[in-house]
Amino acid sequence: MSIDLRAGPPLQRQAARTIFEKSVPGRRAFSCPDTEVDDFEIAELIPAHARRAQPPRLPEVSEPELVRHYVGVSKRNYDLDSGFYPLGSCTMKHNPRLHERAAALPGHSRLHPLQDEQDAQGALELMWNLQEALGEISGLPHVSLQPAAGSHGELAGVLVTRAYHEARGEHRTKVLTPDTAHGTNPATVTMAGMEVVKVATGADGDVDIDDLRAKADSDVACLMLTNPNTLGLFDPNIEEIARIIHDVGATLYYDGANLNAVMGISRPGDMGFDIVHFNLHKSFTQPHGGGGPGAGPIAVSDRVAPFLPRPVVAREDDGGFMLDDERPQSIGRLRGFQGNYGCFVRSYAYIRSLGAEGLLDASETAVLNANYLLARLRERGVAEYLPLAYGELCMHEFVLSGGPMKRELQIKTLDLAKRLLDYGYHPPTVYFPLLVDEALMIEPTETETKETLDAFADAVAAILAEAAEDAAIVQAAPYSTPVRRLDEAAAAKRPVIRQAF
Ligand SMILES: Cc1ncc(COP(=O)(O)O)c(C=O)c1O
Repeated sequence: MSIDLRAGPPLQRQAARTIFEKSVPGRRAFSCPDTEVDDFEIAELIPAHARRAQPPRLPEVSEPELVRHYVGVSKRNYDLDSGFYPLGSCTMKHNPRLHERAAALPGHSRLHPLQDEQDAQGALELMWNLQEALGEISGLPHVSLQPAAGSHGELAGVLVTRAYHEARGEHRTKVLTPDTAHGTNPATVTMAGMEVVKVATGADGDVDIDDLRAKADSDVACLMLTNPNTLGLFDPNIEEIARIIHDVGATLYYDGANLNAVMGISRPGDMGFDIVHFNLHKSFTQPHGGGGPGAGPIAVSDRVAPFLPRPVVAREDDGGFMLDDERPQSIGRLRGFQGNYGCFVRSYAYIRSLGAEGLLDASETAVLNANYLLARLRERGVAEYLPLAYGELCMHEFVLSGGPMKRELQIKTLDLAKRLLDYGYHPPTVYFPLLVDEALMIEPTETETKETLDAFADAVAAILAEAAEDAAIVQAAPYSTPVRRLDEAAAAKRPVIRQAF
């Protein structure tokens, strides 16, 4: 037998077969004791419409095969537990294992969503406390935990804004979004049936105030803004921006997916924002990126509070907790039950174990780490080919432009990203924000060590040196991964998930 080494390491090739392809009739990973109730009686307990004519086709494998299969599959991917993952805008910070233990406690993990409120007081109290904490962190006191993702929170926020204007007898149709906005912002606006109006970015990377003034009129429902923006810059004109927007009767929406630079330092509510969404699966350590479901709660100011999704968790006069459904102006429900409860437990554990001081420290360290890495890359001579796109310093992330690298070394940002995989790193975000030529967006987070940041800077410098010698080496990377270069658009739109590589 000959082994085709080009097809990747043998273990990875083995994992490329599906668990169904490994199935052999009669093999079992475990055995259940016989039930004393016969099959017919069990079947009778299941309503007729929910019964299957045939049992489901399940893979039949032994326990070692089962374990090897899933361990093998997990090794075909890159994950935060394996190495540095500086994916800008995604805040891939370490997820403390303590949070998993808290979420796995039977009182949390076995809670049924239809459980009576009186029997779920502990869970409701946790949710209420989380609402209070997010209200305090954002400076916006009214919170809904319902949305299941950042983009779902955006949709909730835009629908709340629309309901607010309609309750005042106004039909506003436009939403302003800067050209640095995350792609979900314009997508959300379109989904909510409103019109996206782009606002330009000035030469310094901040909102172009003249352009904003020209576009802010009485048709505008809100401005959606990220601050710090996706260039990693804090907009110093935020109070002026808030004035312009409020003067035309619109609301100000804060895309708070990335609160990592500002926790305990500045608050959207104090900057003049009316609505914010949080990604608990970024700043607040809920695992994400295939690692778990997300949660995108929103917090709002007094004037838009009546329109929040319902129910919200409320505290009663006697100190008990309940789901408040009596909200006549609410935009209604956004999903079944109360949200992704496990995310609430993990994020609450994070907030309580760090406390106010700890959250502040996390943000300061995130900003320090990003600026350290930026300085270290400059020191390694990288700026000649990958200069900072805007400004001199950054907040929790920064965006380099690979334009000079492409012109002088004939490698694109995508080539550099692919070669980083061979060096053992997950690539940073590429080609976003769109206004930066050959963008490379790097977010190290606060949970990485100086040694890791130094080694990453060395790797980028080494790849540039390789390209200076022979661009083809970098252009053909990666060499060490289970798959080489994919047709990325086709892989996203028509994934072939069963093919053995
Ligand atoms: C700035 C920003 N806004 C919104 C989102 C959307 O969040 P989600 O992916 O949970 O829908 C993201 C996530 O990538 C983001 O980085």
